[in-house]
Amino acid sequence: MMATPHFITRTGRQTTELGQKIGKLLRADILPDFPGKGFHMALNGDLGAGKTTFVQGLARGLNVPESYYITSPTFNIINEYPCDGRALCHIDLYRLGAADELEFTGFQDLLDQGNILIVEWPQMLMDDDFFFDLVLDFHLTENFSRKISFSGSGQPASNLLQNLFS
Ligand SMILES: Nc1ncnc2c1ncn2[C@@H]1O[C@H](COP(=O)(O)OP(=O)(O)OP(=O)(O)O)[C@@H](O)[C@H]1O
Ligand SMILES: [Mg+2]
Repeated sequence: MMATPHFITRTGRQTTELGQKIGKLLRADILPDFPGKGFHMALNGDLGAGKTTFVQGLARGLNVPESYYITSPTFNIINEYPCDGRALCHIDLYRLGAADELEFTGFQDLLDQGNILIVEWPQMLMDDDFFFDLVLDFHLTENFSRKISFSGSGQPASNLLQNLFS
Protein backbone atom coordinates (compact mmCIF):
# COMPACT_ATOMS: atom_id res chain seq x y z
CA MET A 1 0.00 0.00 0.00
CA MET A 2 1.26 3.48 -0.84
CA ALA A 3 2.09 5.63 2.19
CA THR A 4 -0.17 8.67 2.55
CA PRO A 5 1.72 11.63 1.13
CA HIS A 6 2.70 13.91 3.99
CA PHE A 7 5.13 16.54 5.22
CA ILE A 8 6.60 16.91 8.69
CA THR A 9 7.13 20.48 9.91
CA ARG A 10 9.13 21.27 13.04
CA THR A 11 8.19 24.90 13.61
CA GLY A 12 5.27 27.20 12.90
CA ARG A 13 7.44 28.94 10.36
CA GLN A 14 7.96 25.71 8.43
CA THR A 15 4.19 25.21 8.34
CA THR A 16 3.75 28.76 7.01
CA GLU A 17 6.41 28.06 4.37
CA LEU A 18 4.62 24.89 3.30
CA GLY A 19 1.39 26.88 2.95
CA GLN A 20 3.21 29.47 0.88
CA LYS A 21 4.70 26.84 -1.40
CA ILE A 22 1.27 25.33 -2.02
CA GLY A 23 -0.28 28.76 -2.60
CA LYS A 24 2.38 29.57 -5.21
CA LEU A 25 1.91 26.23 -6.92
CA LEU A 26 -1.84 26.73 -7.10
CA ARG A 27 -1.49 30.21 -8.51
CA ALA A 28 1.28 29.55 -10.99
CA ASP A 29 0.74 25.96 -12.14
CA ILE A 30 -2.65 24.58 -11.17
CA LEU A 31 -5.43 27.21 -11.28
CA PRO A 32 -4.45 28.63 -14.71
CA ASP A 33 -5.18 25.21 -16.24
CA PHE A 34 -8.75 25.25 -14.89
CA PRO A 35 -10.15 28.71 -15.69
CA GLY A 36 -13.18 29.72 -13.67
CA LYS A 37 -12.92 26.72 -11.41
CA GLY A 38 -12.58 27.26 -7.69
CA PHE A 39 -10.48 25.21 -5.34
CA HIS A 40 -11.76 23.88 -2.03
CA MET A 41 -9.49 22.74 0.77
CA ALA A 42 -10.43 21.17 4.11
CA LEU A 43 -8.07 21.41 7.08
CA ASN A 44 -8.63 18.80 9.78
CA GLY A 45 -6.79 18.79 13.09
CA ASP A 46 -7.09 19.62 16.77
CA LEU A 47 -7.04 23.07 18.37
CA GLY A 48 -3.59 24.55 17.89
CA ALA A 49 -2.58 21.98 15.28
CA GLY A 50 -1.40 24.69 12.87
CA LYS A 51 -4.29 25.16 10.45
CA THR A 52 -4.41 28.95 10.64
CA THR A 53 -0.60 29.08 10.60
CA PHE A 54 -0.74 27.18 7.30
CA VAL A 55 -3.34 29.57 5.83
CA GLN A 56 -1.10 32.56 6.68
CA GLY A 57 1.49 31.13 4.29
CA LEU A 58 -1.05 29.99 1.71
CA ALA A 59 -2.36 33.56 1.47
CA ARG A 60 1.14 34.90 0.79
CA GLY A 61 1.71 32.28 -1.89
CA LEU A 62 -1.61 33.19 -3.52
CA ASN A 63 -0.58 36.85 -3.67
CA VAL A 64 -2.96 38.22 -1.07
CA PRO A 65 -1.48 41.72 -0.53
CA GLU A 66 0.93 41.95 2.41
CA SER A 67 -1.26 44.68 3.90
CA TYR A 68 -3.81 42.03 4.90
CA TYR A 69 -2.99 40.35 8.16
CA ILE A 70 -4.41 36.82 8.15
CA THR A 71 -6.26 36.25 11.42
CA SER A 72 -8.30 33.31 12.61
CA PRO A 73 -11.92 33.49 11.40
CA THR A 74 -13.15 31.80 14.58
CA PHE A 75 -15.55 34.63 15.42
CA ASN A 76 -16.48 35.95 11.96
CA ILE A 77 -16.76 32.42 10.47
CA ILE A 78 -15.56 33.74 7.08
CA ASN A 79 -12.65 36.05 6.29
CA GLU A 80 -12.28 37.07 2.67
CA TYR A 81 -9.12 38.35 1.00
CA PRO A 82 -8.54 39.46 -2.59
CA CYS A 83 -6.07 37.46 -4.64
CA ASP A 84 -5.58 37.87 -8.40
CA GLY A 85 -9.20 38.69 -9.16
CA ARG A 86 -10.52 35.85 -7.04
CA ALA A 87 -11.19 35.71 -3.32
CA LEU A 88 -9.43 33.59 -0.77
CA CYS A 89 -12.20 32.62 1.66
CA HIS A 90 -10.84 31.45 4.99
CA ILE A 91 -13.62 29.73 6.90
CA ASP A 92 -13.71 28.32 10.43
CA LEU A 93 -16.77 26.25 11.31
CA TYR A 94 -15.72 25.55 14.90
CA ARG A 95 -18.40 27.77 16.40
CA LEU A 96 -21.14 26.92 13.93
CA GLY A 97 -23.88 24.82 15.52
CA ALA A 98 -25.35 23.28 12.38
CA ALA A 99 -24.75 23.30 8.64
CA ASP A 100 -27.91 25.30 7.91
CA GLU A 101 -26.48 28.23 9.90
CA LEU A 102 -24.11 28.64 6.96
CA GLU A 103 -27.01 30.27 5.12
CA PHE A 104 -26.50 33.37 7.24
CA THR A 105 -22.80 33.71 6.54
CA GLY A 106 -22.84 34.37 2.80
CA PHE A 107 -21.17 31.02 2.18
CA GLN A 108 -23.42 30.07 -0.72
CA ASP A 109 -22.58 33.27 -2.61
CA LEU A 110 -18.89 32.48 -2.42
CA LEU A 111 -19.30 29.15 -4.20
CA ASP A 112 -19.19 28.81 -7.97
CA GLN A 113 -17.32 32.08 -8.39
CA GLY A 114 -13.98 30.44 -8.89
CA ASN A 115 -12.97 31.31 -5.35
CA ILE A 116 -10.45 29.52 -3.20
CA LEU A 117 -12.10 28.14 -0.09
CA ILE A 118 -10.11 26.88 2.83
CA VAL A 119 -12.10 25.47 5.72
CA GLU A 120 -11.00 24.76 9.28
CA TRP A 121 -13.23 22.34 11.25
CA PRO A 122 -14.82 21.14 7.97
CA GLN A 123 -16.56 18.02 9.37
CA MET A 124 -20.05 19.46 9.04
CA LEU A 125 -19.52 20.08 5.31
CA MET A 126 -17.85 16.71 4.82
CA ASP A 127 -20.90 15.06 6.39
CA ASP A 128 -22.95 16.98 3.83
CA ASP A 129 -20.86 15.55 0.96
CA PHE A 130 -19.53 18.98 0.07
CA PHE A 131 -16.77 18.53 -2.51
CA PHE A 132 -13.24 19.22 -1.35
CA ASP A 133 -10.43 19.07 -3.89
CA LEU A 134 -7.89 18.62 -1.15
CA VAL A 135 -8.08 17.44 2.46
CA LEU A 136 -5.19 18.07 4.84
CA ASP A 137 -4.92 16.32 8.22
CA PHE A 138 -2.76 17.99 10.84
CA HIS A 139 -1.39 15.75 13.62
CA LEU A 140 0.69 16.84 16.56
CA THR A 141 3.66 14.54 16.86
CA GLU A 142 6.46 15.02 19.37
CA ASN A 143 7.43 18.50 20.63
CA PHE A 144 6.52 21.11 18.05
CA SER A 145 6.42 18.78 15.08
CA ARG A 146 3.34 18.41 12.96
CA LYS A 147 2.58 15.68 10.46
CA ILE A 148 0.47 17.10 7.64
CA SER A 149 -1.13 14.43 5.43
CA PHE A 150 -2.69 15.09 2.04
CA SER A 151 -5.50 13.48 0.12
CA GLY A 152 -7.05 14.84 -3.04
CA SER A 153 -9.75 14.12 -5.56
CA GLY A 154 -10.18 15.40 -9.09
CA GLN A 155 -7.70 16.59 -11.69
CA PRO A 156 -6.52 19.88 -10.15
CA ALA A 157 -5.67 18.18 -6.84
CA SER A 158 -4.06 15.27 -8.60
CA ASN A 159 -1.84 17.69 -10.57
CA LEU A 160 -0.96 19.51 -7.35
CA LEU A 161 -0.04 16.35 -5.46
CA GLN A 162 2.00 15.11 -8.42
CA ASN A 163 3.91 18.36 -8.37
CA LEU A 164 4.39 18.40 -4.58
CA PHE A 165 5.40 14.80 -4.01
CA SER A 166 7.26 13.71 -7.14
N1 LIG B 1 5.23 22.74 13.40
C1 LIG B 1 4.28 23.66 13.68
N2 LIG B 1 3.32 23.91 12.78
C2 LIG B 1 2.34 24.80 13.04
N3 LIG B 1 2.23 25.51 14.17
C3 LIG B 1 3.17 25.31 15.11
C4 LIG B 1 4.22 24.38 14.91
N4 LIG B 1 5.00 24.38 16.00
C5 LIG B 1 4.44 25.27 16.84
N5 LIG B 1 3.35 25.85 16.32
C6 LIG B 1 2.50 26.85 16.99
O1 LIG B 1 1.23 26.25 17.24
C7 LIG B 1 0.19 27.22 17.10
C8 LIG B 1 -0.80 26.76 16.03
O2 LIG B 1 -1.89 27.63 16.07
P1 LIG B 1 -2.95 27.77 14.90
O3 LIG B 1 -3.81 28.92 15.25
O4 LIG B 1 -2.29 27.75 13.59
O5 LIG B 1 -3.78 26.40 15.09
P2 LIG B 1 -5.19 26.00 14.48
O6 LIG B 1 -5.03 24.59 14.01
O7 LIG B 1 -5.65 27.00 13.50
O8 LIG B 1 -6.12 26.00 15.78
P3 LIG B 1 -7.70 26.30 15.92
O9 LIG B 1 -8.41 25.00 15.67
O10 LIG B 1 -7.81 26.75 17.33
O11 LIG B 1 -8.08 27.35 14.93
C9 LIG B 1 0.87 28.52 16.72
O12 LIG B 1 1.06 29.26 17.89
C10 LIG B 1 2.19 28.07 16.13
O13 LIG B 1 3.22 29.03 16.27
MG1 LIG C 1 -7.36 28.15 13.34
